[in-house]
Amino acid sequence: MQLKSRHLLGIEELAPEEITLILDTAESFAEISQREIKKVPTLRGQTVINLFFEPSTRTRTSFELAEKRLSADSLNFSPGTSSVVKGETLLDTARNLEAMNPDFIVMRHAMPGAAHFLSRACKSSIINAGDGSHEHPTQALLDAYTIRQKKGRIGGLKIAIVGDILHSRVVRSNLFLWQRMGADVTVVGPSTLMPLGIERLGAKVSHRMDEAVEGADVIMMLRIQMERQGRGYFPSVREYFSLFGLTEQRVRRAQPDVIIMHPGPINRGVEISSRVADGPYSVILDQVTNGIAVRMAVLYLLAGGSPREAAA
Ligand code: CP
Repeated sequence: MQLKSRHLLGIEELAPEEITLILDTAESFAEISQREIKKVPTLRGQTVINLFFEPSTRTRTSFELAEKRLSADSLNFSPGTSSVVKGETLLDTARNLEAMNPDFIVMRHAMPGAAHFLSRACKSSIINAGDGSHEHPTQALLDAYTIRQKKGRIGGLKIAIVGDILHSRVVRSNLFLWQRMGADVTVVGPSTLMPLGIERLGAKVSHRMDEAVEGADVIMMLRIQMERQGRGYFPSVREYFSLFGLTEQRVRRAQPDVIIMHPGPINRGVEISSRVADGPYSVILDQVTNGIAVRMAVLYLLAGGSPREAAA
């Protein structure tokens, strides 16, 4: 089996069997990062441009490491030192980069739909590394990989995802994925941070943190986007933390083997206490580790690789 598209633009476009294919392929790539020489020749001769118009720590580093471990030639494009600052459009920037014949463009952009736009204009495979509040597909895939690694399955699990649902691309990608894989999902947050119609993506909605985490197998916390605080989505950080912050007391309401996830970056004392973020149920750094294998699998499969030959 192979992926149907040569782009990865969102989870919305993926069938359940394609999600499983990526996760299974990532399992065979995970071992490479444990080797003394963390490199295979799989994508030798292929070129990847990492085009990040928004800040990133995890996604950009993880893609770059995945590319290097597959022996691809990769380069990081920095808009701040490019002709973008002279007024060049996204399309013209992309066309100029395309003229140098890359095989992949990995792009993060503030505009929802930017990766879809690029995929219509470019011959290269486009990978969406986050487009505004729309989708962040590789984050959802690495989250799914981590859940499967820790729990052995996704179907049937009770998952609570808490925080700024309104602005989160991670929520949308994860809801598409979890719904497709049969999880029971509740989104939790203040009504000001809850988009209208979110139920249509297959989630229950709750505004009561204590109830929503009761018996949960997985709790995923989301960053409160402090840069938007000026708009008055909630009265104060102190009040937000008291109503929706994840504390040890609230963790005790969940299943005894609950896992605590967060896509990062975390705001300690805003949406999660340090004791929970660094505590025994936290898999936040496992998510980061798993991101490399998942991104290796995505690059490999989009290049037309067969799961049987992965990591050979
Ligand atoms: N999870 C995530 O997208 O983190 P970065 O913004 O650091 O890439």
